[in-house]
Amino acid sequence: MLSEETLERLVDAAIKARLNAYAPYSNYCVGAALLMADGRIVTGCNVENASYGLSMCAERSAVFAAAGAGSRTVHACVVVTADGGTPCGACRQVLSEFHDDAHPMQIIAVTPDGTTVMNTWLRDLLPNGFGFGGRTF
Ligand code: THU
Repeated sequence: MLSEETLERLVDAAIKARLNAYAPYSNYCVGAALLMADGRIVTGCNVENASYGLSMCAERSAVFAAAGAGSRTVHACVVVTADGGTPCGACRQVLSEFHDDAHPMQIIAVTPDGTTVMNTWLRDLLPNGFGFGGRTF
């Protein structure tokens, strides 16, 4: 479970990342901040495309940025949206790829004023998620 101080740092980072969202089609801006097992905070935002299906969510942007920077294990993910939206199914699955069996992944949905609207665990958002080796939460 995140400390209040760490949660605050993640929320600040996700709010800042949301300012970079490129969402001219949906006008739905999303920011995400990951706490990695190595202590790094890695952020992402949604990036849309005129060919809508090529758009990328904030959470997956952050996961791929982290992996590309050599950091693979996610301990927590904060997502910021105007209405307290939670990670979509695709993002839940991608996050589950980088979870740590010994450390349940905390998922927190926050609005831009810093209000927490959901604070839960990935295993509760993605029960029986797909994985090789019969991995399920
Ligand atoms: N979006 C995210 O960034 N994360 C989610 O978990 C759900 C949706 C983005 C995708 C698209 O740019 C916009 O929100 C509206 O669906």
